[in-house]
Order: sequence, then C-alpha cells, then structure tokens
Amino acid sequence: HARITASVYSSHVPAIGAAIDMGKTEEPYWVPLFKGFEPSKQWMKDNRPDVVFLVYNDHATSFDLGVIPTFAIGTAAEFEPADEGYGPRPVPKVKGHPELASHIAQSVIQQDFDLTIVNDLKVDHGLTVPMNLMFGSPDAWPVQVIPFHVNVVQYPVPSGQRCFALGQAIRRAIESYDQPLNVQIWGTGGMSHQLQGPRAGLINKDWDNRFLDRLIAEPAELAKVSHIEYVREAGSEGIELVMWLIARGAMADVAGGKPPKLVHRFFHVPASNTAVGHLILENTL
Ligand code: DHB
Ligand code: FE
Repeated sequence: HARITASVYSSHVPAIGAAIDMGKTEEPYWVPLFKGFEPSKQWMKDNRPDVVFLVYNDHATSFDLGVIPTFAIGTAAEFEPADEGYGPRPVPKVKGHPELASHIAQSVIQQDFDLTIVNDLKVDHGLTVPMNLMFGSPDAWPVQVIPFHVNVVQYPVPSGQRCFALGQAIRRAIESYDQPLNVQIWGTGGMSHQLQGPRAGLINKDWDNRFLDRLIAEPAELAKVSHIEYVREAGSEGIELVMWLIARGAMADVAGGKPPKLVHRFFHVPASNTAVGHLILENTL
C-alpha cells in the first residue's frame, strides 16, 4: 500500500521564484532565506518520495473568475508552468500521477468531499516556488506531483476545520492505494501577509510562530480558528494558511498513530511582503 511518510509546509512568495530565475540568490537580501532551506534540500535527497501530493492555491492564473473550484485535483500526466505576466518560469514541467490522482479523487469524493477534477492545468508560483525551495533547480523534477488546488483567493473560502477533515480523507485515500508508493503531502502558502488596502505589508511574527507551535502540537484545536481571525491577525492573504491544515490532517497521529517527528523548523521575515514559514514533519512508525 501507499504510505504518507512526511509532510512539508512552506510559503510560496513569487519574488523567491524571481530571485532564483534571475540569479539573485547570493544577494544579501536573499541569503538568509535560502540558507533556511539548505537542510530541507539535504533531507529531501535522503528522503525522496515517489509522489508529492502538493496542496497549493492557484492565484487567478489557471482558474479565473469564470470558474472557482473550492478544491481541485490535478489528474493529468503533465502540468506546464503558467505565464503569470512575465512569461512561464524557466522550471521543468511537472509530471503528474494520473493513476494515484484518479484513485484519490474516487476515494475522497466517495467520502463526501466534492472535488473538481482538472485535466488541463498550468501551475503558478504557488506550486513551483515550493518545488524550487525543496529540490533546488534540477533539469527535471525528481518526483511525480499531484497538484491539489484550494480556493483561498475569492470568497467564500473553506474553513480550517473542513481543510483538516479533508486531509484525513486524503490520508485514507492514499493508504488504500494498492501500490507501495512513498508519498509526501505538502501544505503551502502563507504565512502572514496582506498585499492590498490600508494594511498592506502587515506581518505578525508572534501569531505566525504560535501557528507553527500549534500546527505541530495541537492541529485539531488550531483547525477551529475562524476565518476572521486569519484575516485580522495574519492579513487578507494569511488565509492561505488553511492549506497547511490539509497536509497536517493527513498525518498519522490525527488517525490515532504516533505524533510526528519535527525534522526542521524555519521562519524568516521579510521575503517580499510575506513572512516565510517552513516545517518538515515525519511520520514515525
Ligand atoms: C506575495 C505573496 C503571495 O503569497 C502571493 O501569492 C503574491 C505575492 C508577496 O509577498 O509579494
Ligand atoms: Fe499567494
């Protein structure tokens, strides 16, 4: 059977992608940020999965206001990098896993979560920036990826509790797949940031670090945090953090297993307008 071995959490700031693409990672502004992901890249070399189930949000790139799926699973064989206004990022195509994705769609929909099935999807910085942070800049991505989009851009957005419950359903789906695959689940986006209006530039380090503490230690309680608290404390785009609860809900302890091992924790401000947070949690057998 397939197994979820670990979960990874990371912000997805587009300027990180631009720094990589324009060769600016050695500049003083960026050095501390990339340094925080060095242990992660090493860990990834030592713990490479077959498949990453990558929870992220499209930013009105592939899904415009014409269609707004709350939850959408990418079932295609390939996903090209999207053009977000400056041409597609020079990163490899993402290779999907249509068989596992179809199985997850079947299982999760039968568990009463109405997923949208997407066969035609271009992936934006929400997906490609975390890939660079964890894998660097290889010629081809060394894993297959199932993109899983969550609407956190256009209201109404899903609650933390629904995301946490969805993670549990995704875990049951993956563990019922009849092939011995090593699967990681990633939750991306966040942390505190607001890109618009009078509070543009808002960062809340204390709230972010408490979020990291609680995500590790008491995710079910954290899942009860209301939408309005995210917006008030973490800014209008801080709501991206509900995606981390999907990945956390898929970990073994939530289903009665052992607590995960904290492999790495990193927090850095600033990166563009955003507080960057990052965790790696391993399931222990
Ligand atoms: C920024 C952060 C985001 O999450 C995003 O989607 C776009 C921009 C920023 O910090 O600039
Ligand atoms: Fe974003």
